[in-house]
Amino acid sequence: MKKLISYCTISATAIFGLYFIQPSFTATANDVNQIYKDTCELCHGPDGKGTEAGKQFGVPNFADPDYQRSRTDEQMKESMTKGTKNPNYVPLGDLGVDLSHLDALVQIVRGFGG
Ligand code: HEC
Repeated sequence: MKKLISYCTISATAIFGLYFIQPSFTATANDVNQIYKDTCELCHGPDGKGTEAGKQFGVPNFADPDYQRSRTDEQMKESMTKGTKNPNYVPLGDLGVDLSHLDALVQIVRGFGG
């Protein structure tokens, strides 16, 4: 019985360890798409045009070419990491997003522009 308990403890630790270590190892496009789905879609929507909730917060329409032209990648990244003058906008670090994915997230946002 004792053996069984310690075995369980070890495997639980191992699984947790993997769970925490994995994201830093595998920064693949799939992971970033998943981050977008899990974290960004709530406000920006699956098509980047903004959900009802997002529009109330004041999200831009990522599918609008005029919007895309109005921002450089650097400006987007600055907003994403530091926030904007819009008090509804939460910097992504505060949402628990791993900022090593910043460039890939900008690419996703650019992708909505066609
Ligand atoms: C709680 C709602 C919410 C969530 C979740 C959210 N955003 Fe936003 N986002 C906003 C709002 C509101 C704005 C508009 C800010 C402004 O215009 O000042 C915005 C603006 C942006 C912009 C444009 C910044 C600019 O300078 O034009 C980018 C890029 C962006 N979000 C990316 C993301 C990404 C990537 C995620 C997920 C990791 C995300 N957002 C999650 C609400 C959200």
